[in-house]
Amino acid sequence: MKKDVIIACDFDCAGQTLRFLDMFRDEPRKPFVKIGMELYYAEGPDIVRAVKERGHGVFLDLKLHDIPTTVKKAMAVLSRLEVDMCNVHAAGTIEMMKAAKEGLTRADGTRPLLIAVTQLTSTSEERMHSDLMIQGTLNDVVVHYARNAAEAGLDGVVCSPLESGIIHDACGKNFLTITPGVRFAEGEVADQVRVTTPARARELGSDYIVVGRPITAAPDPVEAYRRCVSEFLK
Ligand code: C5P
Repeated sequence: MKKDVIIACDFDCAGQTLRFLDMFRDEPRKPFVKIGMELYYAEGPDIVRAVKERGHGVFLDLKLHDIPTTVKKAMAVLSRLEVDMCNVHAAGTIEMMKAAKEGLTRADGTRPLLIAVTQLTSTSEERMHSDLMIQGTLNDVVVHYARNAAEAGLDGVVCSPLESGIIHDACGKNFLTITPGVRFAEGEVADQVRVTTPARARELGSDYIVVGRPITAAPDPVEAYRRCVSEFLK
C-alpha cells in the first residue's frame, strides 16, 4: 500500500504557497500537499491547478457536508480538478458519503481517494454529548463513523495516529488512516495536544501523515521534509 508524508500548506495566499513549494523544485520526490479551506477560498481552483502543474499530489481538505445531491455535484467538480484526495464529514450520513463517491467517480471508473472526518479533534466528548446530543464515548463514536465510511465505500478517515490501530481493527488494514498531530521528538508542540513522531506514527499504523509547521516553519523545510520521509517510510 502507498504510504506518504503530506505537507499541510496552511498559507493564506498563492504567492506564499508557491514560493514555499519553489524550495522543492529540484527534489526527486515531489511532496504530497494539503490545501485547506483558507487557501482554497482565497485563491479558488487555480491554486489546485498551479500546485498540480508542478507535479505535486493534492489533498483538498474542504470537508464537505450537505444534502447528498449537492455533495455529489460538488464532488464531480473536484474530480475534474484532478485532486488526488478529498474529504467529507461522516456526520453527513452513509447516503451522503455514497453520493460523494458517485460524484467523484469519473466515466472511466477512476477517482481521487475519498476520506471521511469522524469527529473533529476540537470536539471534546463533553461537547459531543451536550452540544451535539451524541451519546457514547468519543472513541466509540469515532469507530462507528469510520465503519459508516467503510460501508459507504470510502477509502479511509482522518484520525489521530493513536486511533489508527482501533480503526484498522474495525475497518480492515486496507482502510486508510490519515493522521495529523505529528512532531519531531525535540520539536515544538504548538497547539497540538496529543502528538507522535513520524517513526511512532509508522509503528502505530498510519498510512499518511499530515505535517504542517514542523516542515513549513523549519529553518530548512526541505531537510525537515526529507527527515519526515526517512523516519516515516523507512
Ligand atoms: O502545523 P500542524 O502540523 O499542526 O498542521 C496539521 C494540519 O492538520 C493542519 O492543517 C490542521 O488543520 C490539520 N488537522 C489537525 N487535526 C485534525 C484534523 C486536521 O491538525 N484532527
